[in-house]
Amino acid sequence: MRKRTALVAFAATLTLLAPPAQALPQEAPLAQASLAAAAPGIGHDYEPLRDAAARSGKTFGFAYAPHIANSDAKYKAIAQREFSMVTAENNMKWDATEPRRGQFTFNGADEIMSFAAANNQKVYGHALVWHAQMPAWAKSITNRDDMRKAMNDHIKGVAGRYKGKIEAWDVVNEAFEWDGSRRPSELQKVMGNSWIEEAFRTARAADPNAKLCYNDYSTDGINSKSTAVYNMVKDFKARGVPIDCVGFQTHLIVGQLPASNKQNLQRFADLGVDVRITELDIRIQLPASQQALQTHATEYGQVVKNCWEISRCTGVTIWGISDKYSWIPQVSPGWNAALPWNDNYSTKPALASVANAMGAKKNGSSTGLVCGISAKVGANWSTGYTTDIVIANKGATPIDGWTLQTTLPDGQKLATGWSGQFTQNGQRLSVSNTSFNKTIKPGESVSFNFNTTKNGNSSTALRNFTVNGQQCA
Ligand code: G3I
Repeated sequence: MRKRTALVAFAATLTLLAPPAQALPQEAPLAQASLAAAAPGIGHDYEPLRDAAARSGKTFGFAYAPHIANSDAKYKAIAQREFSMVTAENNMKWDATEPRRGQFTFNGADEIMSFAAANNQKVYGHALVWHAQMPAWAKSITNRDDMRKAMNDHIKGVAGRYKGKIEAWDVVNEAFEWDGSRRPSELQKVMGNSWIEEAFRTARAADPNAKLCYNDYSTDGINSKSTAVYNMVKDFKARGVPIDCVGFQTHLIVGQLPASNKQNLQRFADLGVDVRITELDIRIQLPASQQALQTHATEYGQVVKNCWEISRCTGVTIWGISDKYSWIPQVSPGWNAALPWNDNYSTKPALASVANAMGAKKNGSSTGLVCGISAKVGANWSTGYTTDIVIANKGATPIDGWTLQTTLPDGQKLATGWSGQFTQNGQRLSVSNTSFNKTIKPGESVSFNFNTTKNGNSSTALRNFTVNGQQCA
């Protein structure tokens, strides 16, 4: 059993000076977007991932920090080329937009709006009400009516400014605890249970066109916390409280993607709300081993695939671009490697895994991954059997790094494997390349084999093969 490590929400308060409010900038022309899209990918040769996402009716987003784009040309180029949606990593939060009561400062948020408009990107608003990065003046309010007024004025001030320009707002962020109880934040303690629905009603009035979302972490699988959110959404829908979507942050630890992730997203979608992966990153203990990087890739691909297979999942947003600027090492020293691009902008296997899960094309031509699998029983005895697998590249471009997955018959366990890196999670078996069989050129194939212990089930029928998250012929 792997240890489930609690992710701690990093609550810090930004102290910003209040520069004078300025007019909302005009939308810039879209020409820049097509130029950026035509540029080659950094660290990979796939088409812009936003284009692949668009073919499935989804958006691919990232958490944006304007000060980084202003000082790092590669970050900016990737931001422009790959993404069709922008989330402000910090600039739209309460402390950034209303550092003093009633004094709104929108320069960082406006910069994000301009960047998104110039690059033909949608904006996902994050976050109107959150116990973290809530300014000290608001946290110190102890009177219920005054707290309600402060919260509602804040929502009206920020959502009102960007009325009609925001795709969706995280109206409320992280209001639940692990056990499904309400987080005892100042908001909760001073206003009681009704504050969440009040925030949603105020946001609807402030921007009737924006979709209104509840967003949280560690709600990625079916557990006490996600069930509490589920029950709240169900109740809101039943009572007509305006809620349109739920964001699943998906800050994961490698190897711990909950098996119920897709089922969980689907149960929310079945309530009649959109769902979205809003802050995806998958942290690894440093230095990252080859095996961890393969699991990382498999899990990135799996999360995208889970979303892609749910019609009400609007897309995936990753929490940053390069590991260089990730929030992870600040709060988890010794951990990072969480994003698809590493510190020097080379890509990890996760990038290909995401691209393939989206069906991205390489070099703007043939489809990325076209694979064929042959699985044969090589030997069969009373307690176990050997399976020989061949993966063929039937596409036009090399497969550079692969992870095959398949489902073993019930109760069976992997015993030994050769020419691959093997992990079993439930009945799902993952096999990743070794250094000597990493690349499969077009028309070529690689093979590996493994022994399975039957544990009383004599079937040898393996099911549901994928390579890098895609079904194979
Ligand atoms: O801007 C100041 C700078 O002036 C100062 O010198 C420096 C000193 O520490 O701090 C800078 O502010 C930091 C800010 O990020 C901007 O970089 C804060 O200390 C730091 O706490 C803050 O962290 C942000 C964190 O939210 C705060 O809770 C992270 O960037 C941001 O990625 C993270 O994002 C959250 C989501 O909003 C909600 N879900 C979880 C996610 C990760 O914690």
